[in-house]
Amino acid sequence: MSQLKAVRGMRDLMPEVTSLWQHAETVIKSQLHSFGYQEIRLPVLEATELFSRSAGEATDLVQKEMYSFADRSDGSLTMRPEGTAGCVRALIQHSRLSQPARLWYAGSMFRYERPQKGRYRQFEQIGVEVTGYQSADIDAELLEMGLRIWQALGLSDAVTLELNTLGTAQSRPAYRQALLDYFERYRADLDAEQLARLTANPLRMLDSKSPTIRKMIQGAPKLMDFVDKESRAHFDRLGELLTGLGVPFVVNPLIVRGLDYYTRTVFEWTTTELGAQNAVCSGGRYDDLVAKLGGAPTPAMGFAFGMDRVILLMQERAAQIAQAVDFYVVPITDAEQLSAMHLASEMREALPEACVVCHAGSGKIKARMKQADRSGASFALLLGEEEVKAKRVTVKPLRDQGQQNTIERTEAVEWAIKSWRAD
Ligand code: HAM
Repeated sequence: MSQLKAVRGMRDLMPEVTSLWQHAETVIKSQLHSFGYQEIRLPVLEATELFSRSAGEATDLVQKEMYSFADRSDGSLTMRPEGTAGCVRALIQHSRLSQPARLWYAGSMFRYERPQKGRYRQFEQIGVEVTGYQSADIDAELLEMGLRIWQALGLSDAVTLELNTLGTAQSRPAYRQALLDYFERYRADLDAEQLARLTANPLRMLDSKSPTIRKMIQGAPKLMDFVDKESRAHFDRLGELLTGLGVPFVVNPLIVRGLDYYTRTVFEWTTTELGAQNAVCSGGRYDDLVAKLGGAPTPAMGFAFGMDRVILLMQERAAQIAQAVDFYVVPITDAEQLSAMHLASEMREALPEACVVCHAGSGKIKARMKQADRSGASFALLLGEEEVKAKRVTVKPLRDQGQQNTIERTEAVEWAIKSWRAD
């Protein structure tokens, strides 16, 4: 009998990683709370029509990626591929649009994509949606909150905020036409899929990964030249506010996003540390969506963290941190724990730039040395009963840098400074 396995693209998260997930979720939720955002919980299943009407009939998401099936009674249902549409549906259904709302949700999303590192068929998002605010101050608030979350996660130097404006739905047809005319010249160089993409949504040509198309794009008309005056002013105001708030960003005119509901501000927080799946959090304004789904016209905006990618980033960082240990201080038994902690403290004080880890948790000497080795440290400093009695410390090189020897306890800090400087 063949062994039963999890469905392709759907992962089990084992206890080794769930503590990291819990930590990240707690950090993010506490920031959301401090900005005044409230949780909304939404169903996993929605009517298929919700997504074709919101994300757009011609998008990859609707054409190729949805898990849809016929319900026994309710027609076609879809396992949510994203959270925005369901959130807007709920606000309309519960008549919550007369007052502005600041909301967040967390949960699994489902997309039939080709699985690879950072891309799964069941993945987790923490998403944020704001309704009822027209001006750029809310765009700035959302992006500042994004930055504060990255900072709280210790990842702000791992991500870049890339920003663009798509203008309004009214200003877009002229740009679509200009793009169509431009790519028409290259018709012979496009394959069937690229031609289909061009016809369905010419803007999606801009975020194509194909090197041929990327080359063509360099000479293509620029979206910014077609954007209406108000959207341009909105974008400039957002830039001013972000600069004033100390939120760094780069303008990337090629960000167009894969869902059709966006208007004006669109953005992605990207990283260079995860390979091809470089967007770790993304979103934008969707001022027309509420009306399109049957609600009173209401401006709105939001974004979603791809939590699987956030966790991958944290794991990459944790691996780097582990390698950054310089000295690992080992009490040989629990009796020497305090002496070892004193030594580690003195070393940290003398060498604030170095990373000094003191062993914690009991265990046999073999297990302690294993941890010292695993920490990536260059040297272990050992303190046993004999060492303490003789006021000496044993220095054990862990990376083939010579012999083990013992030194005076009073010289241990000096020795650490010298070996750190020599490194
Ligand atoms: P999205 O860009 O499709 O936007 O997804 C948001 C984030 O989810 C991405 O930046 C990425 O980190 C993560 N993600 C997407 N697909 C996968 C996948 N297959 N595997 C792992 N992670 C993935 C939305 O979903 C919008 N609803 C965001 C939004 C909220 N816009 C306005 N409000």
